[in-house]
Amino acid sequence: MSDYRTIEHDVLVIGAGGAGLRAAIEASASGASVGLVCKSLLGKAHTVMAEGGMAASLANVDDRDDWSTHFADTMRGGQYLNNPRMAELHAKEAPDRVRELEAWGAVFDRTPDGRILQRNFGGHKYPRLAHVGDRTGLEMIRTLQDHGVHQGIDVHMECTVLRLIKDGDRVAGAFGYDRERGKFRVFRCNAIVMATGGIGRAFKVTSNSWEYTGDGHSLAYDAGADLLDMEFVQFHPTGMVWPPSVAGILVTEGVRGEGGVLRNSEGRRFMFDDIPDLYKHQTADNEEEGWRYTQGDKDARRPPELLTRDHVARCILREVREGRGSPHGGVFLDIAWIKDRIQDAPERIKRKLPSMYHQFKELAGIDITSEPMEVGPTTHYAMGGIRVDGDSQMSSVPGLFAAGECAAGLHGANRLGGNSLSDLLVFGKRAGEHAAAFAKDHGTTSADEGQIEDAARWALAPFERVDDGGGPYQVQATLQTRMQELVGIVRQENELREAVGVIGELRGQASKVGVRGNREYNPGWHTALDLHNLLIVSEAVARAALERKESRGAHCRIDYEGKDPEWGSKSIILRKGEDGGMEVSTQPTLELRDDLSQIIEENQA
Ligand code: FUM
Repeated sequence: MSDYRTIEHDVLVIGAGGAGLRAAIEASASGASVGLVCKSLLGKAHTVMAEGGMAASLANVDDRDDWSTHFADTMRGGQYLNNPRMAELHAKEAPDRVRELEAWGAVFDRTPDGRILQRNFGGHKYPRLAHVGDRTGLEMIRTLQDHGVHQGIDVHMECTVLRLIKDGDRVAGAFGYDRERGKFRVFRCNAIVMATGGIGRAFKVTSNSWEYTGDGHSLAYDAGADLLDMEFVQFHPTGMVWPPSVAGILVTEGVRGEGGVLRNSEGRRFMFDDIPDLYKHQTADNEEEGWRYTQGDKDARRPPELLTRDHVARCILREVREGRGSPHGGVFLDIAWIKDRIQDAPERIKRKLPSMYHQFKELAGIDITSEPMEVGPTTHYAMGGIRVDGDSQMSSVPGLFAAGECAAGLHGANRLGGNSLSDLLVFGKRAGEHAAAFAKDHGTTSADEGQIEDAARWALAPFERVDDGGGPYQVQATLQTRMQELVGIVRQENELREAVGVIGELRGQASKVGVRGNREYNPGWHTALDLHNLLIVSEAVARAALERKESRGAHCRIDYEGKDPEWGSKSIILRKGEDGGMEVSTQPTLELRDDLSQIIEENQA
């Protein structure tokens, strides 16, 4: 019998970023006893990498904004593969969630008349992002954390969950270990909210830190949940490219929102070269008009740097591949140029973008108030994830809910910047509320000892195997490199097939990986265990990308250029088959109600 500590809660929330914290707060407010599991320390979450702001149609800067325009923008950005109910709820509820956050203590930047200030971001028709300089995600986490800990939520820090435990079809708990001592923990509960964030660590260049190994996606998949549209991985256009030790670190879109422009090695603003049809009517075709827009001219159209992320990332890649890149393989992002137009430009840049100023000064020796930055795409976000019901956020497994990045639906084929922080608040709240109600209405669960013993045996197996030099880090590094090469921004059939083969081989290697030492803080062991999740999400991305034979949003196939109308109403489902293999199927996207369809039509112009 393995040795483990048992902990009981009504609702267990796995993941303590914005979605997890918001879900925990709501479940606890409903009267449930709540446990919140963090893989690392409380407060360290990818939420802080949404720096530029949270999107909500508060209409504080442009009074033409409202929920319906936000809804239409989100659907257009997602190339209409979004779950329309989620896009509707998100647009309608985001303003209240932002105001609530303010009431809980978040200190937003202000308009001159004291309201929450909103900035421009890609794909949003109006200035819509409530922000705190370029540290919005951090302020959000700080506020939710303060609020949550005063509500009696039990926080389990530095704990990795390895398996979900089931009682028949229903989830009944989770099995994990504490990273410090390596001791096992069994959480028994009546409902689970999965809020583990993304999968960025499946790629070599990413803004995600070490925790983001697709744990929630893979735990849910192993427990029988469907994964949806995993082919859509967002490559944020601007990550650092130099020096190599910091490659991939995010450079907020807020830089472009504040007037930053992209140039190639010839000094040309290449974003004017290719403006997609869907956005032609909204996009300026000359520098002067774009500048006027950033200065608040309501009649002007947006600069092309504020096109959607999928498009901007591909344009950057094109410049680099055609030999017009910067010395270290990116392009130039220039905010310093505004000093020709604004008197106090350096002070303004430091005030609006303090983290960017420090990041480049400290890490790259660049003063962004006088020099351009070198930037290139970085793996940032997974639009695909656990398939959930739009209202309740419950997955196809009873009692298992999901919110935030690990849940799919809201963003379709491409997420608009700033829609993630509002997503976390809107659907974190909903998931917490519905999970607490489910736990109350469906009574207690029991879990058989066999599942726990099996999970414990699996977790300790790497210690039984000989470390023959092909250790966990080699498997992880090879996977990341190959995913970047074969399943990156631009894809094609033969490379995707190769990726599926490589992932299969690496799975074989991972199952033989041995580790040395003991269970107390052993990063080699932790990495060996993370491989299981990384391989599942990598396979899901590669297989879904192979299946979708068109280019749409963040999924770009050079062998199937352009959108195929047939694929415009299909989603891809990935499910664990009886034999343990990954099954791929398609299903029609959810139907659009007439009133929502009309809103989209009215917003075409
Ligand atoms: O660029 C950014 O500040 C990122 C925002 C987001 O991913 O929503």
